[in-house]
Amino acid sequence: MKTVLLLNGPNLNLLGTREPQIYGSTTLADIEKHIAALGAQLGVAVACYQSNSEGELVGRIHRAREEGAAAAIINAGAYTHTSVALRDALAGTALPFVEVHISNVYKREAFRHHSYLSDIAIGVIAGLGVYGYEAALRFLVETKAV
Ligand code: DQA
Repeated sequence: MKTVLLLNGPNLNLLGTREPQIYGSTTLADIEKHIAALGAQLGVAVACYQSNSEGELVGRIHRAREEGAAAAIINAGAYTHTSVALRDALAGTALPFVEVHISNVYKREAFRHHSYLSDIAIGVIAGLGVYGYEAALRFLVETKAV
């Protein structure tokens, strides 16, 4: 069975209580449970990981390659806008990924409009709320990207 890595970056552990007017009230545990169950339905395993540390996220991407993960769904949070290291990890492992943002970053502050990841992603989902994670998984499986 193929594995998809669901990777969430800094502050996404606070989902549910963090700025609910922007991010909604669903917790990360709820999202991970839902995406893992959807994966089981669609015939892929989902490995979930969240970290607030850039280095740990880089390390998890490296391990995903060693483990033979087929693809990733990545919400890198604020590191999206700052991290050359995450970009290099994704480019260096050639791990295919969909970039997800819960909020529509283009409606928000200008510093959220630039992503170090988008131009090497398969595609980008922003502003669909937590449904974006489901959309990404369905896309990966239904288009046979994994
Ligand atoms: C986010 C958007 C980022 O700008 C922000 O730093 C986050 C969450 C989103 O899911 O909308 O932490 O990636």
